[in-house]
Amino acid sequence: MELIRIPRIMHDTAGGHLLHGRSIGFVPTMGALHEGHLSLVRRAKMENDITVVSIFVNPMQFGPAEDLDKYPIDMDGDTEKLRREEVDILFMPDASHIYPKGFSTHIEVEKLSDRLCGAFRPGHFRGVATVVAKLFNIVRPTRAYFGQKDFQQAVIIKKMVKDLDMAIDAVICPTMRENDGLAMSSRNSYLNARERKAAAVISKCLIQTTELIKSGIIDIESIRRFMKEKLSEEPLIAEIEYASVYSPETLDELDRVEKGALLAVALKIGKTRLIDNMLVESQNKIAGR
Ligand code: PAJ
Repeated sequence: MELIRIPRIMHDTAGGHLLHGRSIGFVPTMGALHEGHLSLVRRAKMENDITVVSIFVNPMQFGPAEDLDKYPIDMDGDTEKLRREEVDILFMPDASHIYPKGFSTHIEVEKLSDRLCGAFRPGHFRGVATVVAKLFNIVRPTRAYFGQKDFQQAVIIKKMVKDLDMAIDAVICPTMRENDGLAMSSRNSYLNARERKAAAVISKCLIQTTELIKSGIIDIESIRRFMKEKLSEEPLIAEIEYASVYSPETLDELDRVEKGALLAVALKIGKTRLIDNMLVESQNKIAGR
């Protein structure tokens, strides 16, 4: 595995591969890698000649009161995991190379970025879209892989690719879960033992809601009430930011559930913010298990 830290070198190395007609599969990450990240890496390896993984904890997508300073870092563990997956290139830039002094250009994917998590994390998706656009320009991927776990992020990236005519195929991959259904996340490491146990209520709520929908309940009021009640059964849940049914295209809340609708939840357990989602058509099937 080649380790590259300088954007110019990454750009030229990618250029060499493209010149030889090799496809580049790219998995952008912020590190503290788990099986969710590695599932994207495996898919990228399967579908491309060259696989590039980036690790960059992007300061621009963290709000001032968020967890940038304590975001988990495991450089040795990550490098070892990627080596074992036989990744070709690990791109690990410094913040000073990504955002040199005087940096002033941003990508704003309007509307989609204000909804769901965007309403609670102002500026977050602007930071995500900006860094992903930059990473795309540096890594020059043929295909880029994103997890359904961060559904809104994936939709926003796909929209950016379309609107800006980027010749990249953005692929959305299933959410990988722990045995009790909790969606894998680098932030799960913040949870203490009691909180970790309580967190299983999120995927349980999503599964039970899809079952309720399957039984014929499709009005939004009943579903929203059901989701809130289910989640509130767990006393450690500190704050439910949203829990409802949305259009997977516009991310608008729906009046009535349709096939393919998105069930999405964001909440806090203690100080830790967790998100999860399921598509109604994939009822009962927890992708990735
Ligand atoms: P990060 O949280 O490290 O996630 C990197 C990628 O892994 C994202 O596409 C995310 O959706 C995916 N992922 C995370 N947990 C997953 C799971 N349980 N199953 C499947 N995929 C999962 O998302 C980011 O980093 C950043 O915002 C980034 C896109 C790198 C831009 O900074």
